Amino acid sequence: MTITTVNQAEWVCDANDVLKLRLVSAHTSDPYEHPEGEYHQLLPQFTYSLFGPLQQIYGYKNLKIKLYYAAGSLVTYLDVSYDEKISDHLPGAKPTDVIGIIREHIPEGFMTNYDTFLQRVEKDTHTFVPMGEKISEYRLSDDDNIVYEIYKTNFNTPGFKEYHSRLQLFVLLYIDGARYINEDDEKWEIALVFQKKSTGDSNIYNIIGYCTMYAFFFYEKCEGSKPLSEIKEISNELNETSNFLYSTRLRISQFLILPPYQKQDHGSKLYQALYRNFLANPWIKELTVEDPNDAFSDLRDKNDLMYLVENKIVEGLTIPLDKNKVEEVRRKCKLDQRQMHRCIEMLMLKKLN
Ligand code: ACO
Repeated sequence: MTITTVNQAEWVCDANDVLKLRLVSAHTSDPYEHPEGEYHQLLPQFTYSLFGPLQQIYGYKNLKIKLYYAAGSLVTYLDVSYDEKISDHLPGAKPTDVIGIIREHIPEGFMTNYDTFLQRVEKDTHTFVPMGEKISEYRLSDDDNIVYEIYKTNFNTPGFKEYHSRLQLFVLLYIDGARYINEDDEKWEIALVFQKKSTGDSNIYNIIGYCTMYAFFFYEKCEGSKPLSEIKEISNELNETSNFLYSTRLRISQFLILPPYQKQDHGSKLYQALYRNFLANPWIKELTVEDPNDAFSDLRDKNDLMYLVENKIVEGLTIPLDKNKVEEVRRKCKLDQRQMHRCIEMLMLKKLN
């Protein structure tokens, strides 16, 4: 029987509920105990970039979208299933093109057979290694035998564009207002955090989070510097010329720790490592952040304050504040004006209390 009138509400579902995301690790040695492999289930937070402002999917009953990733290599598995589709009952009805939409956000070559996916996860678990240069490592506690490593890379690193094209969907799903970055722009730098577990004969790397940063030209007038209008082209060669200062203002654009690893200190550890890296780089003059949300502002405030206090950088500052001294501290710490003022305000309030 063909149904001509249907209760439309019955055919609408919440995209955040039906999108099942997983980070799948190596297939266990006991496939009966973990027939689907071992995994972290992730709940998406924002699906409006995929399914519109209401984050709803129309036209299916009991819809399930399985979007699974190998926890290290991010090789992808997609399966879309449902019990009923509205167009089978109501000719002319247009259900959401779920597969078409998801395909726009995952690179070609994703898998649709779960057994093949698990075999690939198994293989990648023992062969995948992070791309780029290792800049730091940490443990969450002294007696923890798991090491976390931070790698810095860019889109010229072989294989990284492909890796990033698998990774980037996470920023849409977890950062409100995030957009994809241009993979053809060489000024992007990306830092990635991996968990490293050593087994007898290999290291297993799982992705924990990442941060994208953009290097802006930073012109600072100094003795003998040319006016900005005379600088025709910005290139690395400028760094080597001595009569004006060419340097970089680095802007953190997207900062994400994946949900299973949030609130365990990874965000702070990544920020601290990057900040140390910026401080040690003479070409970076200032660090800014693009559109930080409250959670990131908290993380940054706490870590910047800790740095300023632990390194006794603000010890000499008293009320009334000496503007020149504040500016001196700001330049030394490479903080932007706004962040420096936030930190000073918090420190002064603490002193008053
Ligand atoms: N047990 C319990 N709580 C802990 C532990 C622990 N072992 N370790 C740290 N925490 C607490 C911290 O004290 C802190 O809590 P507080 O704010 O109440 O003091 C909180 O966890 C967060 O600290 P971290 O663990 O260092 O931060 P996290 O790793 O969770 O990263 C971040 C924070 C980046 C905001 C992460 O939650 C995230 O990625 N969220 C989703 C995406 C997002 O919002 N990104 C920022 C967007 S803005 C931008 O991109 C510029």
